[in-house]
Amino acid sequence: MKALVLTAPGQLEVKEVPVPSLSAGKALVKIKAVALNRRDDWIREGKYPNIKTGMTMGSDGAGVVEEVFNEEHKDWIGKEVVINPNIDWGLNPEVQSLRYTILGMPVDGTFAEYIAVPIDRLHHKPFHLDLLQAASLPLCGLTAFRALFNKGELRAGQNVLISGFGGGVAQFAFLFAKAAGASVYVTSGSDEKLEKAIKMGAKGGYNYKKQAIYDQLWKTKGGFDLVIDSAGGDQINSFIKILRPSGKIVFYGATNGKPTSLDFYRMFWNQLSLVGTTMGNDQEFEEMLKFIGKHQIRPIVDSIRPFSKLAESFGDIAKPNKVGKIVFQV
Ligand SMILES: NC(=O)c1ccc[n+]([C@@H]2O[C@H](COP(=O)([O-])OP(=O)(O)OC[C@H]3O[C@@H](n4cnc5c(N)ncnc54)[C@H](OP(=O)(O)O)[C@@H]3O)[C@@H](O)[C@H]2O)c1
Repeated sequence: MKALVLTAPGQLEVKEVPVPSLSAGKALVKIKAVALNRRDDWIREGKYPNIKTGMTMGSDGAGVVEEVFNEEHKDWIGKEVVINPNIDWGLNPEVQSLRYTILGMPVDGTFAEYIAVPIDRLHHKPFHLDLLQAASLPLCGLTAFRALFNKGELRAGQNVLISGFGGGVAQFAFLFAKAAGASVYVTSGSDEKLEKAIKMGAKGGYNYKKQAIYDQLWKTKGGFDLVIDSAGGDQINSFIKILRPSGKIVFYGATNGKPTSLDFYRMFWNQLSLVGTTMGNDQEFEEMLKFIGKHQIRPIVDSIRPFSKLAESFGDIAKPNKVGKIVFQV
């Protein structure tokens, strides 16, 4: 079968590799669609722990179950599934175990014609989505779901600011927060993306490249209950300024690195929280899919491309004009 393999640091190649063999408790899935994540590009660039060369890349995938090892799992054969990329989250729902990893490094991932995964990684594709849409859900959808509802404790009627609307996770956070009945505001470095977000139901949009916007932002209906961010950097202090007392900033990335200072004074006086989050546990993955089904949420897809274009598309993940997931037909 064909698989996209990290052959050397920074080097990707579509290679002919053996179809994975099944062992007890596993299913063989014929991959029909995969999606790119920022993580894949970080791995290609060598900016991730435990990188091994010779591995198949990819965390997001959806397909059809072709074979199972155990007779008791045979009802899965022929089913359209989306794959939970969590491996060994562990027993504590609050935090991942030390063994935790994500499909696609250091274990073989979804960017291949077949993958063998434990049966409990399989979930039925939401009925209202096709396999291409379903393939875009796992990593970004799960991260957004936990950030908003578990860590952010978002409730209907609250004001939430999602930073960097152009981001894969940010867009799921936007769709989920809207479906939950929150008043959703966004930031972006692109006025075009802000217009798109407003057309899709954002109550307001602010360009983070025009720093002056933050001077007024705290006045938005009395400030924000929650900010969801992955950029980090010194902008965090602007978020601290625009939060309501007891508000929260939940962050799942630090694309712009560490802040040079933190406004501790305002934080303790206003009883604010700065909360980190990563991916989500298996129960949250299941809840995320149910939520998507219940609210008939459709992911935002930037483009659908053939599998043959996957390696060359890694460079597009950080392109400023991208809005939505880049999905590939396998
Ligand atoms: N912890 C986890 O579990 C987890 C999971 C997924 C991702 N992540 C991390 O989170 C980050 C984003 O991931 P992603 O998949 O959503 O990436 P992505 O699709 O590449 O999105 C990156 C977005 O960041 C936004 N951005 C850049 N500078 C910004 C700034 N100063 N303020 C606000 N937004 C800014 C841009 O938004 P605009 O285009 O709108 O300007 C850009 O589109 C990455 O660092 C990734 O590694 C972590």
